[in-house]
Amino acid sequence: MQLTFPELTNTPSASTLADPAAYRGLYAFHKYWGKKPAEPMRYLIQHLCPEGGLVVDPFLGSGISALEAVQLQRRFVGMDINPAAVRLTRMLVSPPPARAVDKALTQVSVLVKDAILESYTTAKQRAATHYVWRNGVIQIVWRTNGESRNRLELPPDEHDIALAESFASYQPKLLRAPRFFTNSRINSCASLTLKDLFTGRALRNIELLLAAIDGLPPAIQESLRLSLTAAVGQMSKMVFAITGRGRTTGVSSERMEVGSWVIGYWRPEQHFEVNVWGCFERRVQKLIKAIAESESVHFDSTSGTLSQVSGGDADHAILNGDCLALLPQLPDNSVDLVITDPPHGDRIPYLELSELWNVILGEEPPFEAEIVVSNAKERSKKSPGYNLAMLNFLEITSRKLRESGCLVLFFNARNEANWRFLNSFSASAKTSGMAYCGCFPLVYSAASVVQDNRDGALRTDFGLVFSRSATVGRSLADIPGWMFNLPTPKE
Ligand SMILES: C[S@@+](CC[C@H](N)C(=O)[O-])C[C@H]1O[C@@H](n2cnc3c(N)ncnc32)[C@H](O)[C@@H]1O
Repeated sequence: MQLTFPELTNTPSASTLADPAAYRGLYAFHKYWGKKPAEPMRYLIQHLCPEGGLVVDPFLGSGISALEAVQLQRRFVGMDINPAAVRLTRMLVSPPPARAVDKALTQVSVLVKDAILESYTTAKQRAATHYVWRNGVIQIVWRTNGESRNRLELPPDEHDIALAESFASYQPKLLRAPRFFTNSRINSCASLTLKDLFTGRALRNIELLLAAIDGLPPAIQESLRLSLTAAVGQMSKMVFAITGRGRTTGVSSERMEVGSWVIGYWRPEQHFEVNVWGCFERRVQKLIKAIAESESVHFDSTSGTLSQVSGGDADHAILNGDCLALLPQLPDNSVDLVITDPPHGDRIPYLELSELWNVILGEEPPFEAEIVVSNAKERSKKSPGYNLAMLNFLEITSRKLRESGCLVLFFNARNEANWRFLNSFSASAKTSGMAYCGCFPLVYSAASVVQDNRDGALRTDFGLVFSRSATVGRSLADIPGWMFNLPTPKE
C-alpha cells in the first residue's frame, strides 16, 4: 500500500536535511545531551503524519520533536524518564510571555543581585567577573575597568583571597545531595559532592537565586529555574581555561579564554570560577530573546492527559516516566507516527549527566528505569538488558501504530555491537508486523559539537524508517542519501 496524505503546503524541501541550520532560539536555550537536528523531525512529521494526526516521541530529550509537532498542528504525546527533559519540553511548547520573564528577572535582581555581586567585590569595588584557579589557589582575577567593558586581568590581592575563603566552608541548605555513580567514562564517583564541583561561593549564590525564584508567582518560576539549570555548568569548577588559541578562530593567541562545561564531571587543575549572577542573567536574557522571537510564530496548543490527546480532546501531553510503562496506556492502532531518538547503548548516560539539573529542580529521577548501557557497575545497566528493553519498546510501538503508521528511529551505529543491534532490531520489527523501509544519514549543522568532535559523525548516525504498510511514499526517497538497505559498517 502507498502512503497517501493530502498535498501539504509550506513543505520544507528534502534538501534541508542535508544542510541543517545551527540551533537557534528556543532550541539553543539549553544544552541537553544528544540533541538532534530539527529539520528531519519537521520533514518527517509533515510527510508521515496528516494534520491533526497523532505523533509520539517516547524518548523526548530536549523536546525538539514536541515543538515541531505542535507547530505543525499535529497532536503530540512525549515521554521521558528524565524530569529535566520533561520540564524543559513543557516550557518549550508553552513558553511564558517574554515580558513576564523579563519582569521576573528584574524581581530576582532586586532581591539578590547586590548580595551576589558583593561576594565578588574587589578592592576597587568592582565585582570580579571571573577568577582563574589552579590547584585550589586563585591565580588571576578578571574585572572590567569601569569606563569601558575591556577586562583587566590582575593577580589576586589579600581581599580577593579572604573573600573566597569566607565562603569556603559554605554547606548547601536547599539543594539535595546529588546521586553519583562510579563511572570513569564521565569521571564521576559515588562520593562526589557538590562541594567537589563548585566553590562555596558559587553554591551560596546558586541557593540565593533559588530562594528568590521560589518567592515568584508559580507560573513564572519554572522559566527561571530552567535558566538556572542551563547555566549551572558554567557556574562550576568544570569550566576549563583555553590557552594558546582563540576559542572561535583556532588562531594561536596568548589570551586566555573561557571554555565551557563539557560532557562529564572533569575538574581541570586550572579552571574558571565565573560570577554566578553574570551566568544567570545572560542565560535568562537568552531565553527572553528566544521567546520574543518565537512569539511571532503563532501556535495554539492545549495540554492535556494522554487519553485526552489520544481521544482528540487536547493537543499535547508531555509525560515524565518510563515509556515502557506509559506507552501501553495509548489505545492500540491510534498513532500515526512514532518519531524518536532513543539512548544509543552506552553513548550518553543521560540521567547520570543530568544529575546537576535535577538537583536544581529538586527532582529525584528513577535511575533503575532508564534504558541505557552504563559503565557504572553498581547500576547493572548492560547490553542484554538494553536490547531487551528496546525490543520491548518496538513490540509495544507496533501495536500502537495505525495500519498506515510509521516508526522513525534515530540511531547511531558507531561501534560493532550497535550494528548487530540494528540487524536484530529490524528482524524483530518484521516479527512485530513492521517492514523496514530504509534509512538516511543524519546530518548535523556545521556548528554542531557532535560534528566537531567525533570522527565519522556524519556517516554513523541514521534515521531508520519502519512502517506497518509495505511501501513508503516518494517523500522519503527524496531525502538526500536515502537507502533502502540497512546501513552497514562501511557506509
Ligand atoms: C537520545 S536522547 C533524546 C535526545 C533528543 N532527540 C534531543 O534531540 O534532544 C534519549 C532520551 O531517552 C530518555 N530515556 C532513557 N530511558 C528512558 C525510558 N525508560 N523512558 C523514557 N525515556 C527514557 C533519556 O532521558 C534521554 O532524554
